[in-house]
Amino acid sequence: MTTFETFLEGQKANGLSGELIAVLAEIAQATRKISDTLKTSALDGLTGATEETNVQGETQKPLDILSNDILLDACRKVPSVSFAVSEELDAEVAIHAGGKYAVIFDPLDGSSNLDVNVTVGTIFSVIEAKTAQDILKTGRHQLIAGYAAYGPQTTLVLTTGKGVQIFTLNGDGIYVLTTADAKIVPEAKEFAINAARRASWDDVVAAYIEDAIDSGHNMRWVGSMVADTHRIFNRGGVFLYPADRNKPASGGRLRLLYEANPIGLLVEAAGGEAIIGDSKILDIEPTGLHQRVPVIFGSKAEVDKLAAAYGARVLEAAAE
Ligand code: AHG
Ligand code: MN
Ligand code: MN
Repeated sequence: MTTFETFLEGQKANGLSGELIAVLAEIAQATRKISDTLKTSALDGLTGATEETNVQGETQKPLDILSNDILLDACRKVPSVSFAVSEELDAEVAIHAGGKYAVIFDPLDGSSNLDVNVTVGTIFSVIEAKTAQDILKTGRHQLIAGYAAYGPQTTLVLTTGKGVQIFTLNGDGIYVLTTADAKIVPEAKEFAINAARRASWDDVVAAYIEDAIDSGHNMRWVGSMVADTHRIFNRGGVFLYPADRNKPASGGRLRLLYEANPIGLLVEAAGGEAIIGDSKILDIEPTGLHQRVPVIFGSKAEVDKLAAAYGARVLEAAAE
């Protein structure tokens, strides 16, 4: 049985720096704490909403704030962490002056599902950043990306640049490796989109969804990107959160730095594709910590159809 700890030993032997291993170990520990906190949150009065709104203009839930604090504490335990960037905080937080890695996270993704006991998650990304300016670099620069999905099981899905590993938390609080090299099947007949927003779709998305329905594709929409992503890792499919055709510059709902980029790195590492339309998510030059982008990712054949329709050439010379 390979555990997260023995996996980290293997990573060290493969050249992952001790500093990055320390960052990853503390993030994993933070997800264990968040998982435990969620399990009894209804008993501990941690449901409902606070009076606070975050920089996104969204009402914060007690567990958003608690999860954010757990991750900040984790960052503070690792001397090599320079900054933390969170969906819940307006600006980057300076952690250790001599640090070299920024930890960027959505502490609790899908928090509208918290009070209805539906899977939520934590999304994280690690990049080299000695100054605040260094934080705004493309998703290709991510050294680590991953998410924890808190559902019937708690799973940790991550990449350190060589494939995607999936761990499942056992009854003793140990993450056990359950998939050593996760791949997203290239073909699939299932799409994830919030169909209630149909009026805001651009022509490409509208035509794709119409054709998918006519071809007998199924639809799933959890309202938690991590849950939809995890399903795609397990059985393929395509996830779409388009920009509003009437407000294309708004970029849609999802944020580049701590949702689109980490998921994009995982998806590409598993043989899938992740685009914003006519370019790949991982090539977008960020302009701000909370920048929103349209997001389309998943099974390569399906995403390539959309990319082609956007007139983009999504070619993988290296992968051919
Ligand atoms: P968060 O809870 O971190 O704000 O993220 C929620 C996101 C994403 O997880 C999900 O796919 C999407 O919001 C759902 O959006 P709609 O409610 O518009 O469907
Ligand atoms: Mn989110
Ligand atoms: Mn969130």
